Amino acid sequence: MTHPRPILTLTLNPALDMATEVEEIIPGHKLRCGEPLLDPGGGGLNVSRAIRALGGESLALVALGGLTGDRLAGLIRDSGITFLSILGPGETRLSLSVGETSTGRQYRFMLPGPVWTAADRGHVFTLLRATAQPGGLSVISGSQPPGMPIDLPAQLAASMPGCRVVLDISGKPLMQAVRRPIPDLEVLRMDGEEAESLTGAPLESREATANFAEDLVRQGVAKKVVIARGAEGNLLVTAERRIFAATPRVEVRSAVGAGDSFVAGLVLALSRGQSDDEALALASAAAAAAVTTDATHLCRPEDVMRLLPATRVSAV
Ligand SMILES: Nc1ncnc2c1ncn2[C@@H]1O[C@H](COP(=O)(O)OP(=O)(O)O)[C@@H](O)[C@H]1O
Ligand SMILES: [Mg+2]
Repeated sequence: MTHPRPILTLTLNPALDMATEVEEIIPGHKLRCGEPLLDPGGGGLNVSRAIRALGGESLALVALGGLTGDRLAGLIRDSGITFLSILGPGETRLSLSVGETSTGRQYRFMLPGPVWTAADRGHVFTLLRATAQPGGLSVISGSQPPGMPIDLPAQLAASMPGCRVVLDISGKPLMQAVRRPIPDLEVLRMDGEEAESLTGAPLESREATANFAEDLVRQGVAKKVVIARGAEGNLLVTAERRIFAATPRVEVRSAVGAGDSFVAGLVLALSRGQSDDEALALASAAAAAAVTTDATHLCRPEDVMRLLPATRVSAV
């Protein structure tokens, strides 16, 4: 195999994820929790971890700050991924997930990250200009930190000339990326809900989703538009083709992190020069594998390899 193209992921709003358990959540009581588990969290970091789980390599660019940032750096090192950090503003955020063992309910508390200034943003552009290689793949995903402009993805992409940018974002920044297309964007990915929030109407069939994706490609929003249709599978549309990967039925444990595993499979295959069909199949198998694991776990390689042959790609 020729050398794969380098992959960069970017995590500007990482979190130190702490998970624990308690018998019952009762207001006003001291809740005696179990031993906490710590994990590195944040869209880009998850993509890098899933790429590693799938046998690939990437460079994770992460903004860290304060003591929580130092603690997170240790966890990222332990995870075995290659990363570079820049000093983000303030203290890296913490997120807490508490499982209530008597009911099986999961409570998730996400603390806000530090607010970014224009000067802080400048460090990110410098890091991107120094590390992003033309022809490489760059993943922009996850939430934007507070204080960032809604056209941040466009500004990030402009700092990586010649890179094939893969965008997996939501909310207002996604709307902006559709309204004001980012020049030469390689992939725009979203889930079905995000697509429906853009159209303002339900996308009931695979064809309807494909038509919408095709409109976006025609408008120059991206070369490839990828839209998830939940448990049914995933769609990829280019100017030439509309393809759908139907995922095999799996036992659902937690869909948390499935989107990141999907992106990992997609960019890993594309970095290896594989076809869109192969990339969509690997991505869909990785997402399906991720839903079979607990919340804090990404896809397991043995599950991905088992599900991959059962993931059928066909034209829409
Ligand atoms: N039951 C399921 N079986 C297989 N794949 C699933 C299932 N549920 C969701 N998926 C896939 O997992 C991915 C979830 O992506 P997304 O909605 O972006 O998740 P996230 O919440 O991680 O952002 C999609 O690609 C979707 O097709
Ligand atoms: Mg998502």
